[in-house]
Amino acid sequence: MAMEHLLPVVGFALIAAAFLQFGLWTGRGLRLRRLDKQRFEIDLAKLRAELHAITHQPTHASEPVCDSGSLHATDEQPAQLTASGTWKGFRPFIVTRMVRETSHCTSIYLTPTDGKGLADFRPGQHIALRVRLPGFDKPLVRCYSLSDTPKPESYRITVKRLPHPNQGSAHAGGVVSNYLHQDLQVGDALDVKAPRGSFVLQESRSPAILLAGGIGITPLLSMFNSIAESENGRDCLMIYGVRNGQDHAFHQHLENLSQKHANLHVINCFSSPSPEDQMGVDYQSKGFVTIDMLKQGLRGKDYEFYLCGPPSFMQVLYKDLKNWGISDSQIHYESFGTASLCRQPMPSVVAQDSTPSVEIRLSSSDRQATFDCAAESNLLEWIEEQGIDIESGCRTGNCGTCQIPLLAGRVVYTDTEQIECDPGFCLPCVAKPAEAIEIGV
Ligand code: FES
Repeated sequence: MAMEHLLPVVGFALIAAAFLQFGLWTGRGLRLRRLDKQRFEIDLAKLRAELHAITHQPTHASEPVCDSGSLHATDEQPAQLTASGTWKGFRPFIVTRMVRETSHCTSIYLTPTDGKGLADFRPGQHIALRVRLPGFDKPLVRCYSLSDTPKPESYRITVKRLPHPNQGSAHAGGVVSNYLHQDLQVGDALDVKAPRGSFVLQESRSPAILLAGGIGITPLLSMFNSIAESENGRDCLMIYGVRNGQDHAFHQHLENLSQKHANLHVINCFSSPSPEDQMGVDYQSKGFVTIDMLKQGLRGKDYEFYLCGPPSFMQVLYKDLKNWGISDSQIHYESFGTASLCRQPMPSVVAQDSTPSVEIRLSSSDRQATFDCAAESNLLEWIEEQGIDIESGCRTGNCGTCQIPLLAGRVVYTDTEQIECDPGFCLPCVAKPAEAIEIGV
């Protein structure tokens, strides 16, 4: 039989074998070849000494740690820590370690400079980073998922380098990820918001099916690690869609965990395997992650599904899961966009507003103007069109930077599931007025 005819047959057999192992809770995952990944890790003995010096000189804590001319940690007000270790606003952190996972994917470890410990977080949550870059008059804010379980000394994020943007807009995708890959070094300072986000691993005994696409693996990796560490025996299957072995940032790590824990399983789907990638060794399926794989492999439908990947990956799988009869309460999702983490609202959860236009009162400037609900995308852009400059970051409802007082009236959100906002405030980047409102700008 010709090789091109043989491969799909072999692929099907490998997937079936993986699902069989998953279903029976027996045996170990398929043996994956140890990747010769080129990794670099930085010894931080010197840095720790510097960090110690910084954390014991509070009067210097808000000064730039790295005076490269490109980045300064300048939180105007020192972040106030609560009893649980969380904080409001941005808090100065320092980069304590960087690990090159693939040619375009780097893990960054961040430690607070005040030496006061870290807030706990739930697997799946993210943090917002604030950086000041040359050529931008305002700081840039981006959100990144935490890619490991909570550790006492640092947070870890894993950032994919996006193509360099053609334009220098503060909101263009790639501006910050290119900076993080090109210029950021161990010892540099960044401002960090406390972990947040509602895309979290649910307390459940139902098996967790983690469906990851590309860099969307990061929050799911935190969940996978968390199940491994808990040793509660919860069954978990990670199905990872990625281009090929060179782009697979955590191949060896996932293999190690699935070899060590009988309840953890991994299926790698390579859409474009390179000549070095071996079917049955590096990957179990050629092509994309599809609902047919799940239908063929899963028994029944008593699972919790977690999705994270590019918008097309998310939308297709979400729709197919729903059509298969999986309820909304069993599907949890997070999606990545040009800012590395931006939720794409699912069509079924987009809030509809029927109000054609409403009046908005701007309390600080004592003005009133009309918001055209059909023409305007969101409240933040409308506020900017009024000539009012408010701080913003992700512009996708994730970072909380644009939060403003909502003094009267009601707003609707484009994504009703994932808004985290203080009482009496709103997030204008993903909000529209539902009626006449008054806002504190
Ligand atoms: S800018 Fe991030 S929540 Fe609005």
